Amino acid sequence: MPDLSTTYMGLRLKNPLIAGSSGLTGTRAGLLELQEGGVAAVVLKSIFEEEIAAEYDDALSEAARKGMSLESYDYYDYELRGAHVSQYVDFIREAKTAVSIPVIASVNCTYSHEWASFAKDIEAAGADGLELNMFFLPSDITRSSDEREKVYLQIVDRVLKQVRIPVALKISSSFSTLAQMIDRLSKTGIAALVLFNRFYSIDFDIEKMTVTGAGSLSSPAELAGPLRWVALMSRRVGCDLAASTGVHDGAGLIKMLLAGAKAVQASSAFYRNGAGSAGVMLKELSAWMDRHGFKAIADFRGNLSQAESVDPGVYERVQYMKHYAG
Ligand SMILES: Cc1cc2nc3c(=O)[nH]c(=O)nc-3n(C[C@H](O)[C@H](O)[C@H](O)COP(=O)(O)O)c2cc1C
Repeated sequence: MPDLSTTYMGLRLKNPLIAGSSGLTGTRAGLLELQEGGVAAVVLKSIFEEEIAAEYDDALSEAARKGMSLESYDYYDYELRGAHVSQYVDFIREAKTAVSIPVIASVNCTYSHEWASFAKDIEAAGADGLELNMFFLPSDITRSSDEREKVYLQIVDRVLKQVRIPVALKISSSFSTLAQMIDRLSKTGIAALVLFNRFYSIDFDIEKMTVTGAGSLSSPAELAGPLRWVALMSRRVGCDLAASTGVHDGAGLIKMLLAGAKAVQASSAFYRNGAGSAGVMLKELSAWMDRHGFKAIADFRGNLSQAESVDPGVYERVQYMKHYAG
């Protein structure tokens, strides 16, 4: 049997497959199924700063209607944030008693103020790591990319000052200078970057002429984006890279490792095929390693990264020129 063990964010993992943050990692039963299925670690369902803020806004309007004083705002702020965080902290504790694999907590950050102090509570609850899920849709035409990017760096800086557990940052590919931003973020002191998150998208119902939500699960074809970027950036950045989006089978897992990922996250695959599909993916990885004579992940990880390539230009080709398209 080949050795599938690896390290990611300084954590020792029995294999490189991690259950990404989703509804499946938001319940004790889901976590147990995923552990049973074979994943090496779980990223818990995120706590959403946005939800806390929305609830806070409601409470503020209510307080204003009742003619409450400004000081009570602080009270609401403290109470509401506290209640949400303590629920999440309880869930981390529950997760840690339920499963024996590493548990990575997840925070969806929207603003750079205040919430960084939650990170301390998350650490105290026993989380083995913290993943920050950060994305601001670049739709504001009055904000420069510089201004937007500063917010990412500020949030990371604040969180890193609060905790000692390893911190990962899960980002989107929506940066004007993506390679430079990945490089900068990787040198902030974070332990890992997760490339990339997949976001809620809108769709239109053309009969009702209304805005609806697009499907929430990825397809295997979506692997192409993160595959290219993991291959471009691995062996060039100052932290681990995890791949995320579009990994639905053993082949997808192997491709991401060949690109240079230290770990690979999957979510949609477990929704579609059940938590047991983790075991199938890992069996496919083992069988492939046997076939190719690899005894450990390090024997082949990054072998198809751009840094190792004799034809680096192929990773940067973007046009379907006749010559290449055949
Ligand atoms: C139903 C559902 C809920 C999700 N919730 C979260 C979340 O709370 N936090 C987060 O960072 N990502 C969340 N994600 C995104 C996944 O972690 C992952 O990045 C995305 O689905 C792409 O990976 P996949 O192709 O393996 O599904 C969610 C995805 C799904 C399908």
